[in-house]
This record gives sequence, structure tokens and C-alpha cells, in this order.
Amino acid sequence: MFRRDLLRWYRRHHRQLPWRATRDPYRIWVSEIMLQQTRVETVLPYYARWLRAFPTMHALARAKADRVLKQWEGLGYYSRARNLHRAAQTVVREYSGKLPRTAEGLRQLPGIGRYTAGAIASIAFGERVPLVDGNVARVFSRVFALTANVKTPRTMEALWQLAEKLLPARNPGDFNQALMELGALVCTPANPRCEVCPMRRVCVARARGLVDQLPNRGRP
Ligand code: ADE
Repeated sequence: MFRRDLLRWYRRHHRQLPWRATRDPYRIWVSEIMLQQTRVETVLPYYARWLRAFPTMHALARAKADRVLKQWEGLGYYSRARNLHRAAQTVVREYSGKLPRTAEGLRQLPGIGRYTAGAIASIAFGERVPLVDGNVARVFSRVFALTANVKTPRTMEALWQLAEKLLPARNPGDFNQALMELGALVCTPANPRCEVCPMRRVCVARARGLVDQLPNRGRP
């Protein structure tokens, strides 16, 4: 019921974002790298410009390093651009230009950690792999009233296990994006919109009046 209600909500309410209108793994990969530590509204213009400059994996692999950095200018965390460039060159050289189709394979590439590998593998390739980012950690903390400090490795591991357990066999990419979207649009850090939340009937934090105290980030 958790899954069904969440997916139904997602299908009705998700934002139309350019990386949700493509099945091109290259484009999905670029979006997930840009979205690391960066808000959707900030990413949008950069994403469009990047894809005009480097519309394919091969175009990116061939590009000069200074041009790649130039396209990234203003987004911050420049190692992301350098890693995208290096990864594109590796993919062209060693994988005939195609991204690995599993989270495990993706994690071999520079700039792709556990979260990003889960996102690309589930969204672009339909692999049944979970992901946990800050949004997902907040949603789970509240829905299940988990009071442990979400910043500790032990709690993070428990959240990954929970994500794995809840993940449906079908449409894992939609499920993962639905969790993140709920965290971005409804189950927000401040002033969450509990009255319109698809989880409001099962949310333990809401039932116990703990929503404003969760997630526990380790101190006042
Ligand atoms: N944050 C990072 N990737 C995202 C995605 N695919 N959907 C929603 N939020 C995200």
C-alpha cells in the first residue's frame, strides 16, 4: 500500500523535468551528476546548455577539457565536470560508448558513487537497485519514525536496507524518483505539506506528532 499510494501520487504530481522525458542513459547520467548537491531549478539551464554543447557521449569524450569546464562554470564542485569528461572517455574507449547497465558496473566510473549508480541503473536501465539521498532519508525517518541520527554510517546502512526492502520489482526507477520527489515537494525539511501527503495515513511521525523533530541530524 505504501508503494502503490506513492507511485499513484508520483504519476499524478511529478514535475515534468527534461531528464524525465528521455530514455537516453547519457542524458540521465548527466542529470544525476548535475543534481548532486545542486537544486533542480539551478540545474535546468545548465543541463540544456550542456546538451547543446555535448549532445552525446562521443561529443563529450572528444571535447577539450577547457571547453568542458567552461560549460560547467557557475555550477560549482568542478570535480564533477572533470569526472564526467574522464568517464565519457573511458566509456568510449573501453565500453564502445555505452554506459554499463548495472549499478555495480557504473560505480567503476569516476564520479559515480552508490547513490548515483542506483539512480542511473534504476531510472535508465530498470535495474532493481535502491537509492538513498537526503530526501529519501527524511521521508523514511518520518514515515517510520526512525529516531536514530541519520548522519551515522550505521543509520545510513539501515536506510539503504529499508530502501532495498521496499523497492518493487517493477518500475524501480519510478519508485526511486517518487521517493525523492515526495521529499522535494511534500515531505520538505521545513513546513512539510502533510495534509496532501500520500503517506499521511501510514506516517508514524505524523501520528506521534514528531514530524518537526525528524530526521534526527544529530543536534539542535
Ligand atoms: N534528485 C536527484 N535526482 C533526482 C531525480 N531523478 N528525481 C528527483 N530528484 C532528484
